[in-house]
Amino acid sequence: MKTYLMTPGPTPVAPETQLTMAQPMIHHRAPQFMEILAEVREGLKYLFQTQQEVLMFAATGTGAMEGAVANTLSAGDTALVVDGGKFGERWTELCNVYGVKVDRLEVTWGRAVDPKEVARRLDGNPAIKAVFVQANETSTGVQHPVKELAEVTKSRPGTILVVDAISALGGYELPMDAWSIDVMVAGSQKAMMLPPGLAFAALSPKAWEFVKTSTLPKYYFDFAKQRKSQEKNQTPYTSAVSLTLGLGEVLARIKKVGLEKIFAHNRRLSLATKAAVQAMGLELYARDYPSDVLTAILAPAGVDGQKVVSELRKRGIWIAGGQAQAKGKIFRIAHMGYIDELDLLGTIGGLEAVLNELGYKVAYGAGLKAAQEVLSKEAAA
Ligand SMILES: Cc1ncc(COP(=O)(O)O)c(C=O)c1O
Repeated sequence: MKTYLMTPGPTPVAPETQLTMAQPMIHHRAPQFMEILAEVREGLKYLFQTQQEVLMFAATGTGAMEGAVANTLSAGDTALVVDGGKFGERWTELCNVYGVKVDRLEVTWGRAVDPKEVARRLDGNPAIKAVFVQANETSTGVQHPVKELAEVTKSRPGTILVVDAISALGGYELPMDAWSIDVMVAGSQKAMMLPPGLAFAALSPKAWEFVKTSTLPKYYFDFAKQRKSQEKNQTPYTSAVSLTLGLGEVLARIKKVGLEKIFAHNRRLSLATKAAVQAMGLELYARDYPSDVLTAILAPAGVDGQKVVSELRKRGIWIAGGQAQAKGKIFRIAHMGYIDELDLLGTIGGLEAVLNELGYKVAYGAGLKAAQEVLSKEAAA
């Protein structure tokens, strides 16, 4: 049976990438690998839309999140954490581990943060050195308004904006330099179309100044050491060779297609999914700023969201359930990276069948019709 991976990470990996990663092993200090690393460094700058070095680590995204805290702050510093979901919580947990005081800005799950509230908090406490936020809160399917948040932090020399773009980068517009994002972290297994295992972080000149004064302990995730090594087309320790080869292939393809077209593709699939949801009489979980890279859907009354997930799995379709307080209440469908129109239509068709089986009556084809109407109207990228 075929597997359709429609989860917001990991996402499908293209055959071209798989073949590239299957090449015979080469040594990470070989000139051939250094040439690849040079190309990868350029490709990452294109993807992050930055002039700065993009650091890469053999880790999952959380490693880069941890590095972002450990490299910019010191024990006793205060950070403002936007906490509107499972991944917002992670910033608080990381700060707690490192002795960073947290001013927690709680956002109702399914809502986006109000940048005015962030400004008010910063006005109230000028000692806040960093604002931590998700670009895309994967647990709720909400995009926080990063551009507006950066407007708030860019005029404050003592405060940096740290953005977890793990499920956003490569999915929709997030130009790091143009928007004045200070630290942006990402992971390989979502819109970057790679297996899990690489984490990324890029820092603005302002954030690099913070690195100079940070006294928190760090060893593997030492950003300054990593940058120095990468500038010589090396990594300080053994490189994740096969993943890096795959990354080179993906980045070349992203550059060839162009970010704009990729973002338009994801948006088109997102609009089709949202139209299908509405046509099936279902509701989005996201109340504001629904995400372009995944759709979180409220399970209809009397239907367990986890059941929807497990029943779809029996058909080979993998979507994600809800996490923590949203467990059983929602289910989530990704539309980013190497996911296409047919994958999506198959998933919507499967969803119609499963909902009927679980007792929620949907006219067969209602969601599919709505999705197809959007897909035919929105030009294919
Ligand atoms: C927004 C966000 N932040 C952080 C993470 C954690 O990343 P990882 O599991 O790669 O460490 C995820 C993974 O789903 C995510 O979506």
